[in-house]
Amino acid sequence: MAQKAIISGITGQDGSYLAELLLSKGYEVYGLQRRASLPNTGRIDHLYGKKGFNMTYADLSDSSNLLRVIKKIEPDEFYNLGAQSHVGVSFDVPEFTVNTNALGPLRILETIRNLGMPIKYYQASSSEMFGKVLEIPQRETTPFNPQSPYGLSKVFAFHITKIYRTGYNIFASNGILFNHESPRRGINFVTRKVTIGLSRISLGLQKTLKLGNLDAKRDWGYSKDYVEAIWKILQHKEPDDFLIATGETHSVREWVEEVGKHLGMSITWKGKGLLEKGIDQKTGKTIIEIDPIHFRPNEVEFLQGDSSKAQKILNWKPKTTFSGLAKLMTEQDLVYVKREATEGHPVVTQQKFQV
Ligand code: NAP
Ligand code: GDD
Repeated sequence: MAQKAIISGITGQDGSYLAELLLSKGYEVYGLQRRASLPNTGRIDHLYGKKGFNMTYADLSDSSNLLRVIKKIEPDEFYNLGAQSHVGVSFDVPEFTVNTNALGPLRILETIRNLGMPIKYYQASSSEMFGKVLEIPQRETTPFNPQSPYGLSKVFAFHITKIYRTGYNIFASNGILFNHESPRRGINFVTRKVTIGLSRISLGLQKTLKLGNLDAKRDWGYSKDYVEAIWKILQHKEPDDFLIATGETHSVREWVEEVGKHLGMSITWKGKGLLEKGIDQKTGKTIIEIDPIHFRPNEVEFLQGDSSKAQKILNWKPKTTFSGLAKLMTEQDLVYVKREATEGHPVVTQQKFQV
């Protein structure tokens, strides 16, 4: 009989790639979709009608509906990827963030406990929990020091997952994933904002791109590589916590330069602080400016992960380099933006994602 998996957050970046991976392995996939006033299924529209693909309405803020759905489907695995996942936005909607990201996992785990079903649970934990880092590089053993409502909500979720594992003998595992990106990344995360913005600038559709902290450093990987790790974490013989990262760290400034290279630009920097500007040496034009609106009340300046435990125990390795990631995201956004140029309306926000 086919394995059954529920995916919360299936309409998001990781959920869509994980759904494809599980379907390719013969799973029956049950995606949880929350109600939206406009279609929110652009990343998974291509999966409708595929054998084993099912969708149902559910929301992580609604315990009774989670109970009904889990009881009816009787899944072998539950991948909890649903979250208010934007760190900056979590300062604006802290209560919603905590309700979804912290209490959501608690609601699922309580349901699993009460039903007494042998369901394996995956929690999408985050490098944002390390916050102002207390060790370099970060490992599974590094203490958490969150700096945002989002980071703290994920610390709660991480610990409650461990508590249900040890206290109730539930197969519940955490993947502590560092930043991972793709052509399906939400358009208000910095990597995607830059690939779209610079692509538009290269075609003359936009003059400048306004960014926040250029000095922040992140360990950026590719979402498609990371969903392989997510699946492997639940296939391991026992529940455990694994850190997933590339081991390399780069600044936002370096990301801008790298994306620029793939568009034939040569970006150099002039000025300091709010007056800093990125200039394309080929045209002499200013294309990057700083807008403090993108600064956060607290910032996480530096993340770099050590994934040697996952590499050793799960036999997982990142396959995509920093430059390879910038290339594949930029090439795809250039295709969307070229369509904007010919069709005369925004394509990026209405795209069907199949890459
Ligand atoms: P994403 O693209 O923002 O997707 C988030 C998903 O959660 C979407 O499907 C969203 O639905 C859903 N969601 C939000 N609130 C919900 C609610 N109340 N009930 C049910 N579903 C809800 O995020 P992602 O990049 O794929 O990340 C997946 C998970 O990994 C998240 O938990 C994130 O916090 C975590 N994570 C991500 C990274 C990263 O770098 N990408 C790193 C570490 C951890 P809509 O489509 O309707 O908005
Ligand atoms: N979003 C955004 N927009 N970030 C900017 C900008 C901008 O215009 N300018 C500079 N940044 C900086 C942010 O201040 C941050 O330091 C860095 O770029 C990365 O920001 P995001 O891409 O928004 O990602 P994040 O690191 O805050 O959070 C992502 O990674 C976490 C894992 O560490 C999200 O995917 C989280 O869900 C995830 O848990």
